[in-house]
Amino acid sequence: MDSLPPNLTINGSRLWQSLMDMATIGATPKGGVCRLALTDLDKEGRDLFVRWCEEAGCTVTVDRIGNIFARRPGRDPDLPPVLMGSHLDTQPTGGRFDGVYGVLAGLEVIRSLNDLNYETDAPVEVAVWTNEEGTRFAPSMVASGVFAGEFDLEYGLSRADMDGRTVGEELARIGYAGDAPVGNRPLTAYFEAHIEQGPILEAEGKTIGVVTDAQGQRWYEITLTGQEAHAGPTPMARRKDALVGAARVVEAVNRIGFTHQPGACATVGLMQIHPNSRNVIPGRVFFTVDFRHPDDAVLARMDAELRAEVARIAAETMLDAEMEQIFYYAPVRFEESCVAAVRKGVERTGHSWRDMVSGAGHDACYVARVAPTAMVFIPCVDGISHNEVEDATPEWCAAGCEVLLLAVLEKAVR
Ligand code: GLV
Ligand code: MN
Ligand code: MN
Ligand code: MN
Repeated sequence: MDSLPPNLTINGSRLWQSLMDMATIGATPKGGVCRLALTDLDKEGRDLFVRWCEEAGCTVTVDRIGNIFARRPGRDPDLPPVLMGSHLDTQPTGGRFDGVYGVLAGLEVIRSLNDLNYETDAPVEVAVWTNEEGTRFAPSMVASGVFAGEFDLEYGLSRADMDGRTVGEELARIGYAGDAPVGNRPLTAYFEAHIEQGPILEAEGKTIGVVTDAQGQRWYEITLTGQEAHAGPTPMARRKDALVGAARVVEAVNRIGFTHQPGACATVGLMQIHPNSRNVIPGRVFFTVDFRHPDDAVLARMDAELRAEVARIAAETMLDAEMEQIFYYAPVRFEESCVAAVRKGVERTGHSWRDMVSGAGHDACYVARVAPTAMVFIPCVDGISHNEVEDATPEWCAAGCEVLLLAVLEKAVR
């Protein structure tokens, strides 16, 4: 690794141009991107990525849950690859960087190695993980979860959207139901570059986050059932209004988040009201809860408090409550030698940096279970993400990619 060529660098303007080209697929009027998992737009984005990888001389394979792997061979075909990657799917009001940055920074690493005519010992690969966001199909990170053995393949393929269309059907429809087995293959290391999605790096004037940990998550689906009734003749005291119960649970969720500071995050982000008519008392409300904390014990306390609050509120409002935890993973500690490779890389570049904990979930959180893993963060403007105005500068993007390149070489070169 210390025999690296002194001219080692990446092409920041080519990376930026690729990001902007990909951002035209699903572009929204406010400058963001809506490219939901396994839609026609996701297919378009995947096709463009695959074309770029083939042009860069990579061999592309697709596994049975639609994860794409583009491989640049190394000197020693027996060495397990060093993998980079992230996701191309976005939130409905997503931005131009969440996910796609890690994918295209990985591609830029491969393009730069080609430019330098530099041969690594281990092969180097870039992955696109299917359905990271969990917005169209819950839960998030489902395909990296199958890769890591957290979920069965059948579970992953059977996740359904609000219209009942499954991951398996949609993969087949867009031509990305591959035939490679999912996971069960060794990796030398996995590195995921990503925007921070929070305000810390920008506020501290730091260019790189060396991600040491990621906070744990619990996701729930709750249905409160009362009784539809006429909004006029039904006296207040007789009502079984499911939305009133849901509103109280939303308030409780928020309170639980504030109770467990520092660190807790608590969100109700999706709600469906039945029958959703202005002069009918709502008879049924379905909604979701997203809890996060870096300490698993606190996350467990938040879980217990939510269960108690839902039971109490349902009783007080004369509602039936069904509640299911649909997703859980414990806080993640990234692997020491991979974190050290990122630190060594950033020190070589001279960019300012700090260690940090990821607030968001990432495919790296599951891949970390089966391979030595770490992440590289770059700032995003005002810490805003999952929003069409999400923004980053070409300089930040280039800096993160340089660090990614150096971290990859630390593991891929003997
Ligand atoms: C996905 O973006 C998540 O962190 O929830
Ligand atoms: Mn992401
Ligand atoms: Mn996201
Ligand atoms: Mn995410």
